[in-house]
Amino acid sequence: MRNGYSGPQILLHWLIVTLVPVQYLTGGSIERVHQAVHMGMVPSRLALLEHTVHNYCGMSIGAIMAVRLVLRLLRPGVLPANPSLADRAARLLYLGFYAAIIAQASLGFIASYIWFGIATVHVAGAWLILAMVGMHVAAAFWHGLIKKDDVLDRMLPARRAAEE
Ligand code: HEM
Ligand code: HEM
Repeated sequence: MRNGYSGPQILLHWLIVTLVPVQYLTGGSIERVHQAVHMGMVPSRLALLEHTVHNYCGMSIGAIMAVRLVLRLLRPGVLPANPSLADRAARLLYLGFYAAIIAQASLGFIASYIWFGIATVHVAGAWLILAMVGMHVAAAFWHGLIKKDDVLDRMLPARRAAEE
């Protein structure tokens, strides 16, 4: 957690940040596609496109998060000598992100290709991840705007390079 992330870790963090919103923008299309099919209608081309984007983007997110997890295990970072409660909570949240996002992509895959019955867990997972992102972003802004420490800099390549 402390003492710097590598370039690939930073790049993949921001790639995930770009891809996750796509899932929230496209997720609703799947119900529309299914409803149309159940009513014997042809789903709209837009809904079908969004459904496809959702599946492939979601699988990419799962794969990228798995790569990030491997990178993270190879470069575990160190907690400060006397970690505060906030340090421990942040670390727990990061672990939670890896678990929740990889699980979410796997659940989506199962719902789409193996057993749709699990979709309700996938929908609940989407809300859980949203809450986690909310806490994480609030913490990032708190560090950047109020505490004004170096936490945000750790995920910003330009500032990180300037400090090296
Ligand atoms: C981390 C990645 C993912 C996130 C954040 C995510 C998020 C979402 C969201 C927000 C919805 C809409 C929930 C609602 O209707 O309220 C949804 C629905 C759905 N997603 Fe994903 N998704 C991810 C990955 C995947 C993958 C990889 C697949 C399939 C390969 C998939 C398949 C589905 C299916 C089948 C539904 C429809 C569930 C239903 O309507 O009951 N998702 N997802
Ligand atoms: C989909 C949204 C996001 C996800 C899933 C996510 C996930 C993560 C994860 C898992 C880590 C821990 C990295 C590790 O220790 O291996 C992390 C760190 C970090 N993230 Fe995010 N993040 C998201 C959005 C954001 C946003 C929007 C910001 C900035 C406003 C941000 C700023 C940071 C910073 C500064 C760190 C480093 C904190 C530290 O070293 O203690 N993240 N993020």
